[in-house]
Amino acid sequence: MPKQLNTALLQIAGKTSGALIELDSVTKQYPNQPVAAVQNFSMTVQPGELIMFVGPSGCGKTTTMKMINRIIEPTSGSISIDGRDVLSLDPSELRRHIGYVIQQIGLFPHMTIAENIGVVPKLLNWSKEKTADRVHELLTTVGLEPGDFAHRYPKQLSGGQQQRVGVARALAADPPVMLMDEPFGATDPITREKLQAEFLRLQASIGKTIIFVTHDFDEAVRLGDRIAVLSNRSQIEQFDTPANILASPANEYVSSFIGLGTAIKRLVLIPVTAARLGPASAAVAGGTTVRTTDSLRDALDSLVLTGLPALAVVDELNKAVGSISVDQISAVLGAEVPILTPTAEA
Ligand SMILES: Nc1ncnc2c1ncn2[C@@H]1O[C@H](COP(=O)(O)OP(=O)(O)O)[C@@H](O)[C@H]1O
Ligand SMILES: [Mg+2]
Repeated sequence: MPKQLNTALLQIAGKTSGALIELDSVTKQYPNQPVAAVQNFSMTVQPGELIMFVGPSGCGKTTTMKMINRIIEPTSGSISIDGRDVLSLDPSELRRHIGYVIQQIGLFPHMTIAENIGVVPKLLNWSKEKTADRVHELLTTVGLEPGDFAHRYPKQLSGGQQQRVGVARALAADPPVMLMDEPFGATDPITREKLQAEFLRLQASIGKTIIFVTHDFDEAVRLGDRIAVLSNRSQIEQFDTPANILASPANEYVSSFIGLGTAIKRLVLIPVTAARLGPASAAVAGGTTVRTTDSLRDALDSLVLTGLPALAVVDELNKAVGSISVDQISAVLGAEVPILTPTAEA
């Protein structure tokens, strides 16, 4: 590899928090296909942003993502990371500096968990000690006790645990960019919610630039700083924050993709403290409580589950600071409580 390219890679690699990604008129035409899989895709992703690509199966999400780490070569257009043209960099070297997590996880079955996580550090010639320390740190980060898990084989782990190892492996060399293709798609809903919550906590501390593909709009709302709603040939129908997309979908396509229940989806984004809380005395003493760090969606869940008219809201010291009811949640949304009128045949 020519020296200046090597330096470019080192600059990308040396920057571990986040990098600027720019795609300019990127097109992918697979051979013998009537239409392009991705057509004139342009997007700028700021350092440290978590961008969700959401769209139906076959719309071009995976193809768009795989062109960034050059698993797929674009037919035309340009892609740069921190201003460096990725097409000028050595592809296998580039991939070592971009974390990649996929739904099928792709752990090597004959390698232990520690060896799986250490794959890229090994390729980068890290010392045994440095690699072992990193593996230990990452297993702890993703909530797997190193003493228990490091020496197991992938098949001795549950799907959710394997997925955590996949995330740890992608983070091993502390890459500035992470590409994640439906990483939690194969897990059951409860495991998925757990993985999402862990992932948000992790991203808050590592601040990578992340492109995350999903076909689940709710996952996009929960995780994304911004969401790109894609239609066929990876056309961007809307690219904005979750709150803005929910409040004003750009067109019919986006509305239908959001689906029903916009108000409930918006509640995920609003903290309990945004509501005008009632007096603490309005809540049943000793009943279920809601934390000040919870979302209005969490509060609504608890209200529905308990059937109580109001729940106490408690701070981090478990001290009641007020109470919340359905009316106060509605007031935040600026909505009337809908009244269902019985139909004629009822
Ligand atoms: N290797 C390939 N050869 C030909 N067509 C492909 C290939 N990979 C994907 N496609 C087609 O490109 C389009 C986009 O696929 P993909 O990027 O995998 O979509 P998504 O990830 O959104 O489901 C689809 O129509 C798919 O059939
Ligand atoms: Mg895909």
